[in-house]
Amino acid sequence: MKKKEISLSVEVYDDKNEMTADMQNLVEKAISAGKNAYAPYSGFSVGAAVLLENGEIITGSNQENAAYPSGLCAERVAVFYASARYPDVPIKQLAVIAMKNGEVVDTPAAPCGACRQVLIEYEDKQGEPLSVILAGKYETIKLERSSDLLPFAFGSKELTGE
Ligand code: THU
Repeated sequence: MKKKEISLSVEVYDDKNEMTADMQNLVEKAISAGKNAYAPYSGFSVGAAVLLENGEIITGSNQENAAYPSGLCAERVAVFYASARYPDVPIKQLAVIAMKNGEVVDTPAAPCGACRQVLIEYEDKQGEPLSVILAGKYETIKLERSSDLLPFAFGSKELTGE
């Protein structure tokens, strides 16, 4: 048996003015998208915005359903639409926010496990990093690549050694 360290370095922004204008813009787009969530069951609205390499920004929000598992998270609504609309254009960056009662929640919003797996697959497919901004009211975290969200993802390099 041996031990292996898996390290992760993230950027933490306590003040949104530390973020680049592009990052702030993407977070603002995610907030606007969150206002379009259909979340009557959880009361938890999530907004996602993705910046494509062609400069286009595509947004998504969570869409719930009375048959609960039929609903979909904001992140997957956004990346699935981006890939459906522009299958060959890399997705450079994703911003995610969560809202309750119309207010962005205090702590950064983190994608669920299923969304992480989906993000990683698009990142692998495009062969370039899909960075992730997890924005909260007071603190925002940026990860350089989606694989940082889920080190032991199905098919991950940690396991296959590729
Ligand atoms: N949700 C998202 O949209 N993204 C996530 O990463 C986590 C959860 C949604 C699903 C559901 O509509 C609501 O938030 C509560 O779980």
